[in-house]
Amino acid sequence: MSQFSQFVVQPGGKVRGTLRVPGDKSISHRAIMFGSLAEGTTTVTGFLEGEDSLNTLRAFRAMGVDIQGPEQGRVVIQGVGMHGLRDPGKVIDLGNSGTSMRLLAGLLAAQPFALTLSGDSSLSKRPMRRVTEPLALMGAQIATADGGRPPLVLPGGASLQGIHYDLPMASAQVKSCVLLAGLYAQGETSVTEPAPTRDHTERMLRGFGYPVVSEGRHIRLQGGGKLLASTIEVPADISSAAFFMVAASIAPGSELLLQHVGINPTRTGVIDILKLMGADITLENPREAGGEPVADIRVKSARLQGIRIPEALVPLAIDEFPALFIAAACATGETVLTGAEELRVKESDRIQVMVDGLQALGVDAVATEDGAIIQGGKIRGGSVEAHDDHRIAMSFSLAALRAEGAISVNNCENVATSFPNFVELATRAGLKLEAHP
Ligand code: S3P
Repeated sequence: MSQFSQFVVQPGGKVRGTLRVPGDKSISHRAIMFGSLAEGTTTVTGFLEGEDSLNTLRAFRAMGVDIQGPEQGRVVIQGVGMHGLRDPGKVIDLGNSGTSMRLLAGLLAAQPFALTLSGDSSLSKRPMRRVTEPLALMGAQIATADGGRPPLVLPGGASLQGIHYDLPMASAQVKSCVLLAGLYAQGETSVTEPAPTRDHTERMLRGFGYPVVSEGRHIRLQGGGKLLASTIEVPADISSAAFFMVAASIAPGSELLLQHVGINPTRTGVIDILKLMGADITLENPREAGGEPVADIRVKSARLQGIRIPEALVPLAIDEFPALFIAAACATGETVLTGAEELRVKESDRIQVMVDGLQALGVDAVATEDGAIIQGGKIRGGSVEAHDDHRIAMSFSLAALRAEGAISVNNCENVATSFPNFVELATRAGLKLEAHP
C-alpha cells in the first residue's frame, strides 16, 4: 500500500518532459500466471511492481513456485508445469485485484486441492457470478459469499469439460477466466464476446507455445496442452499513460513524450476518444516488443471539444474513463457517455464517484444508468473522495491543472495498486502535487 492517504494539488501549471510510466498491469499478471505453469525458466522485464500484480506473484509463491524478484522490474520464474502447483495451506489474499481473482478462479478451478481466494473491502463487494456461472457449466462448483461476492472457495478435484460460452458482457476478465479453465478441460473451450476486449491472454498463451484460435469475436482452444517458458518484455501501461495524456491535453503550454507505451489495438480507445475531442496526440517509433505493439506517445495541449463517445470504443478504454471525465470537464460543450454500465462494478462505482467529485468541484455533471453527461466549464477548488479507487485518485489530481483553487483528494492509498511512483512522476512532469500520509 502507498504511504499516502491524501493528495493536495495546487491549481494551474503545465506538464512537460519525457516519462516512462510503469509496466502494464494486465500483462504483468499474466506473465506471472503463465510463467509459473510453464515448463522452464521465464524471465520478465518491465514487470509492474504494483500491489495488484504483486498479489498475483505472492499467490504463486504460496503455491510453491520459485519466483525471484522483482528487482527493477525483472522477475525470474522457475515454472512448475501445468500440474506442479502445491496446496498453499492458507487463504490466498488478492488484495484489491479483480483481475487476479477472476483469472485465478478459472486457472485454478481444476487443481487437486481446495483453495480460498479472498480480497480487500473493495474487491469483496465486486460481482463474481460472472465467473462462477461459466465455471459451474464446465464442472467447477465454486462457493461464494452472499450475492456472489468474494471470498471464492474452489473445492478442488473438479474435472472440467470444455464448453462454448457466449459472454453476457464485454469483459476480458471473464473471457480469460473461461479460456484459462479451458486449458485444463476435456476437449474444446470457446467463447464469443459481444465486443472486442483486451486480448493479452490469447497473445501471451501463444507466446508460451499454446495454440489459441481467434476468429473475430470467437476464440477457442483445446484443453490438455502445455506452456513452454518464454521471455516477456512488459510495455508501459497505456492505462497509466492515460493520466498524462489527459494532463498534457488540458494544461495549456504542455508537451509530454510517454515512452514505450503498449498500444495493443484492444487498449487504445483512450487515444481515439481524446483525438475525437480534438487532442494533439502522435504515435512515434511504432515497434513490436514481446508480442505486443508499442510506441512513444507525444501529447501537446489542445482545445478539447465535448463529444458523444462512440459505444464501440467503451470496452477499449474501460479503465480510462475516470481520466476521460476530467478531459470532458475541461472541454467546450457537452460530453455524453453511454453503454458503460461496467464502470459501476470496478474498484468503485466509477460513474457515481466521478460525478459526485465533479459536482463537488462545481462541474455540471449527471450520472445516468450506463454513463454520464458532463458539461465542460469552470472547475473550482475543493475536496473530493477517491473511495480507495486508484484511478479516481489520480484523475482528480489532474483536474487541478485547470482548477481555480487547490484540490484535495482523500483516500488515495490504493494508487500503489497500479502506479506506485505516480506522485514522483506527476510532480516531475509539473503537477503541483503534495502527498500526505
Ligand atoms: C482487465 C480487464 C478489465 C479491466 C481490468 C483489467 C484484465 O476488466 O478493467 O483493469 O487484465 O483482463 P473487465 O474485463 O472485467 O472489464
